[in-house]
Amino acid sequence: MGFYSKKILPKLLNSAMADKSLEEFRLKVLAKARGEVLEIGFGSGLNLPFYPRTVTHLTAVDINPGMEKFARQVMADSPVKTDLLVINGEELPFEAASFDTVLSTWTLCSIERIDKALDEIRRVLRPDGQFIFIEHGLSPDASVQKWQRRLNGFQKKLAGNCHLDRPIGTLIENQGFKISELNEFYLEKGPKFLGYFYQGTALPG
Ligand SMILES: C[S@@+](CC[C@H](N)C(=O)[O-])C[C@H]1O[C@@H](n2cnc3c(N)ncnc32)[C@H](O)[C@@H]1O
Repeated sequence: MGFYSKKILPKLLNSAMADKSLEEFRLKVLAKARGEVLEIGFGSGLNLPFYPRTVTHLTAVDINPGMEKFARQVMADSPVKTDLLVINGEELPFEAASFDTVLSTWTLCSIERIDKALDEIRRVLRPDGQFIFIEHGLSPDASVQKWQRRLNGFQKKLAGNCHLDRPIGTLIENQGFKISELNEFYLEKGPKFLGYFYQGTALPG
C-alpha cells in the first residue's frame, strides 16, 4: 500500500463519508444490528454513533492502516465495546458461526476479491444471523451505466479500488445468501453514477 493510500486517501474518505446526507441511511441500517457484530470496512468509525443498544460487542476490520487513527479517536468517545483489527476482509480470522450480525456500509465496492469476502461473511455468520448493508453500485439505467463504466478506472485509482459498476444484489446472491430485503434507489443529490444505492438484509441461507 503506497503513500497516497495510507496518508492521503484516509483523509479524503473520512471527509467524504462524513457527509450528513449519508446519516439517515446509517441510522436505518444500523437500527437492525444486534448481538455480536462484525463490521467490514470500518473506515474512520463513522457508524459507531449509530449502533443501537441491542449490540453487545463490535469487532471491526479494515484493510487500510491509515484509517486507524481516525477510527480510534471515534472509538475513544463511544460506549460501544469495540475491537479493531487492521486486516483484509477477504480472510477473516474468526471461527465459523461467530456473529449475529455482519455490517457493511459502502465497502463492497472496494474489496478486491468481493466473492472471497462474501464467502467469509457467510461463514462467520450464525445460522440465524444477518448480513445488513448499504452500498453503491451498478445502476439499472443504460445511460448511467455508460458513465459508470467510463469513469470506473479513474474512480478505482482515486478512491481506493472503489468500483462504480458492481451489481451488489446479484453478487451477494451468487455467494449463496438469501436476500430477505433489498431496496434500490438513487441518492437525491449528487451524480447518479455514484449514487445508485443498494440497502438490504441477506441471510446465510
Ligand atoms: C468508502 S470507505 C467506507 C468506510 C465506512 N464503512 C463508512 O461507512 O464510512 C471503504 C472502506 O473499506 C475498506 N476496505 C477496502 N477493502 C477492504 C478489504 N479487503 N478488507 C477490509 N476493508 C477494506 C477501506 O479501507 C475503507 O476504509
